[in-house]
Amino acid sequence: MFSGSFDNHLQGRSRDGDFSPLLRLFIEKGEIPLNEKRSSFSGSVGFVLAAAGSAIGLGNLWRFPYLAAKNGGGLFLVVYLALLITFGFTLLVTEVAIGRKTKSSPLMAYGKLHGKWKWIGVFAVVVPFLILPYYCVIGGWVLKYCTVFLTGQVAAASGNGFFTSFITSTAEPLVFMAVYLFLTSFVVYRDINNGIEKFSRFLMPLLFLIVIGVALFSLTIRYDDGAITRTGLDGLAVYLIPNLDGLTVGGFMSLLISAMGQLFFSISVAMGIMITYGSYFEDRGNIFTSIWQIGFFDTFVAFLAGLMTIVPIYVLMGQEGMNASGPSLLFVAMPKTFHAMGLTGTIVGAAFFIMAFFAALTSSISIMEAVVSSIMESLSVSRRKAAIIEGLVAFAIGAVVCLGYNLLYVEIPMPNGSVGQVLDALDYISNGLLMPIVEISTCLLIGWALTPDVVVKEATKNGEPFLQKRMYKTMIRFIAPILLIVLLLQSLGIIG
Ligand code: PFF
Repeated sequence: MFSGSFDNHLQGRSRDGDFSPLLRLFIEKGEIPLNEKRSSFSGSVGFVLAAAGSAIGLGNLWRFPYLAAKNGGGLFLVVYLALLITFGFTLLVTEVAIGRKTKSSPLMAYGKLHGKWKWIGVFAVVVPFLILPYYCVIGGWVLKYCTVFLTGQVAAASGNGFFTSFITSTAEPLVFMAVYLFLTSFVVYRDINNGIEKFSRFLMPLLFLIVIGVALFSLTIRYDDGAITRTGLDGLAVYLIPNLDGLTVGGFMSLLISAMGQLFFSISVAMGIMITYGSYFEDRGNIFTSIWQIGFFDTFVAFLAGLMTIVPIYVLMGQEGMNASGPSLLFVAMPKTFHAMGLTGTIVGAAFFIMAFFAALTSSISIMEAVVSSIMESLSVSRRKAAIIEGLVAFAIGAVVCLGYNLLYVEIPMPNGSVGQVLDALDYISNGLLMPIVEISTCLLIGWALTPDVVVKEATKNGEPFLQKRMYKTMIRFIAPILLIVLLLQSLGIIG
């Protein structure tokens, strides 16, 4: 709508979120409609930290290490990296470019690209809408464990029924979820520069420091009961050295699908997030460099998460506990491991849960922003109003999720054969079904209904070389949709 230089004015808002006098003049004169007032990150660093904050979440901590250890560590890592630079890169470039090109929320972005494909936007915003409440419930659990470790109750937390009795109690999980959701909403309410960017710039370096510190510490742990000795380096070997004996084609295929599913969830695509953050990304910024940085940070933390979890669990508890993933890894196996460390465990455990809290918070902020930006744009309401509305709705759904473990206890059978509670059902619908559908449709829109050149043009508009252009085009048109269909079929229980 506006020429390039004007775009730069729009991008060039001051850091405190105010408009420059020139821009204000145009807005007041009515030459820029109010709904064109879009915030943006102050530069590439802000974008990368916020997007990496989104990508680095609980998935990195509780699923990557388990999958890596189960699938022969090093081999899993190699397959994961190969998928990251092909499949993951393709999806990330596509979403960030869609966001930056349309300067829209996920709800509207697809319609701006192609009127007939507007419906993808609805799916793309239903996903974060469903994820936010249950992610905040889990965020509340993490917050609870921060308080438990900070108040020195490690022995209690390591007890067998501790986690179950916490989530099956009525009031406590609700209160922790409410506090966690309030913190998330508070950051989103404060806008891009003063909220998301400011908090990411503060939380992410702190998160990296804790991750590196705890991971290095884990390598120094030693267990010796006279008969058996296990060291951190033994744990590292268990985590990383592939056991290729008896690896079949079927086994390798299942490793491939696990790595793909993990990558797909980890890079925050198909949740409206990268489109939203892309829409705040400066026109002058280099999309490729930023994406490599996001991918690097995400994988680096996922890899180190294995050192923080698998290594100490193996050293101190033996093989027992190594099969845990998800909540049971974070809230059962880790507290037991920290308890086995003695006094040091209280400190390391507190650092670990604070780090997990930061990782979760920067992810839930991003998922809320995807919904809030869509509400702002579609209902033409202010950010503050949208954040309050979404905060209240997420609280109501989150409350049902919490009560799904006690007063409203249900056992819901899923199409893939598993049975779960409200949280699992929401996770299944969003993560298992809608996310692959959103991303398959996105590939079909860009690869076929439009042309991949739409993305190529956006990503290279400052003259950036696109070294993998041919790979990108083949990926987005043929390979990525097929891989995503495989994920969808797996979720549906059609393939194993
Ligand atoms: N990569 C994030 C994670 O590993 O947790 C994915 C994510 C999940 C982002 C949920 C945001 C979110 F609310």
